[in-house]
Amino acid sequence: MKKFPSIKSVQILNKSVFLRADLDVPLSQQATIIDSIRLNAWLPTLKYLLNSRAKVIIAGHLGRPQKKFSISNFQLSNTEREFSLAPVAKWIEKETGLKSHEAELGGFPGWKYADNLFLLENLRFYKEEEENNPEFAKRLASLADIYVNDAFAVSHRYNASVSEIAKYLPHFAGFRLEEEVTALSKVLDEPKRPLVVIVGGIKIETKLPLIQKMSEIADHVLVGGKLAAETEALSKVGESAVIAKLTEDGLDVTEESLRKFLEVVKTAKTIIWNGPLHKIPNTKYQISNSSSSELAQAIIGSGAYSVVGGGDTIAFLDKEKLLDKFSFYSIGGGAMLAFLSGEKLPGLEALIRG
Ligand code: 3PG
Repeated sequence: MKKFPSIKSVQILNKSVFLRADLDVPLSQQATIIDSIRLNAWLPTLKYLLNSRAKVIIAGHLGRPQKKFSISNFQLSNTEREFSLAPVAKWIEKETGLKSHEAELGGFPGWKYADNLFLLENLRFYKEEEENNPEFAKRLASLADIYVNDAFAVSHRYNASVSEIAKYLPHFAGFRLEEEVTALSKVLDEPKRPLVVIVGGIKIETKLPLIQKMSEIADHVLVGGKLAAETEALSKVGESAVIAKLTEDGLDVTEESLRKFLEVVKTAKTIIWNGPLHKIPNTKYQISNSSSSELAQAIIGSGAYSVVGGGDTIAFLDKEKLLDKFSFYSIGGGAMLAFLSGEKLPGLEALIRG
């Protein structure tokens, strides 16, 4: 497993720390945070830094805003406001008990709390962020003395605040990022067998590499959700893969397939699950009486070491109060898939680079 430099190994008293955090949370029409799992994930790192009397600059992205700005000409209209981090700024107020006001830091707009805390506005308002632009990364780096990445969920992106910035500052892993890598490495490198991998959801192009890799190393790979209809793509996966049959409307796996899956789950010692088996209806997070709910109960009941991930999957498990019953849940969607598929993640590579 990769060993990252830990923030506990560095003197941070009175230092400025650039904390790359997961701020990409689902928002309601009224711009309230629907689910704060990703924010809660880096809170221990923030608290540690503040308690160690560092000055912290929190930065991250929200969604994929199309309109881009230059730093010197930043003016949000109502359309772009849905991508503003204002709801996250409020959430930080609540968690830290500190009031904030709009301000600038090194020309970047954001929110100032006390003298020791600042939140930068959504970095994806600048095209240079996703271009991994060195000048932009240097400008971000100039705000701080130390860089900490606690945003596992975006570590599969070559973004300036994830990858390039680490070239210009001493760099360290946040607590959650370390936990993610430890838990995911554990199931990859030394799983107790049988290892059962369940993949559901919609997008075959993002899930296929995982299904392929896992059909080489897992004892069983169970494929459900809309993915299961992608027979042509799935014809290339190995023999350990069992593809569910779908109901006539294509929205769920058949009862027979579900039973087959549950039998396999019972025998597992390690389970990885990403993506629901059924289409989650508009009452978005309800899974009671669904195939995914039965699967969740079976995984928990199996006593196997269980790792679950994927945005929709963890959001509904949270609503059903089942999430904490899994051994580990990953806050990464694409990042979890990339890591388990054996890809190198730019954000992680940047931390181990000298
Ligand atoms: C995610 O939601 O997986 C991360 O925040 C990355 O977002 P992206 O897919 O828009 O890069």
